Amino acid sequence: MEFNEVVKNRRSIRKYDTDKKVTKEQVEELIRYAIYAPTWKNSQTARYYCTLDGKGREAVAKCLQGTNKDKTEGAALIVATFVKNRSGFDREGNPDNECGNGWGYYDLGIATQNLVLKAQEVGLGTLIMGIRDSEALRN
Ligand SMILES: Cc1cc2nc3c(=O)[nH]c(=O)nc-3n(C[C@H](O)[C@H](O)[C@H](O)COP(=O)(O)O)c2cc1C
Repeated sequence: MEFNEVVKNRRSIRKYDTDKKVTKEQVEELIRYAIYAPTWKNSQTARYYCTLDGKGREAVAKCLQGTNKDKTEGAALIVATFVKNRSGFDREGNPDNECGNGWGYYDLGIATQNLVLKAQEVGLGTLIMGIRDSEALRN
């Protein structure tokens, strides 16, 4: 699919076709494209936890809050995160500028955009979900 079409046609998907399965290879390809994204001082702090099987998906879905709980049936779940205090800091541990650890979020956002656009290109729907219990997810 042509780049302009990929960008224009991507939409948040909140209902997934339970008959269709996402493969491990497809998820790996999406993450490969996420990793092409630029990062602060090439810090590459983003990490991805993925679950494709029913049990793992259920465990992750339980950590979603509000109406997000109902939006993941049939979906493969990818949880993207970043390693705390490693982006936006110098070797001595001082923040490079006023954004400090905010660069971790920034980098993760760029990477996630790569991921969702690649998904759109290969015909997979995506939804970014910020409303979740982060402590439960971490556990
Ligand atoms: C950082 C971020 C967090 C989001 N969190 C949620 C969420 O928790 N639940 C949800 O249904 N949509 C969430 N969205 C999706 C937005 O609501 C959606 O992108 C917006 O309404 C525009 O629609 P579109 O993606 O179809 O263009 C989130 C989007 C972003 C970028």
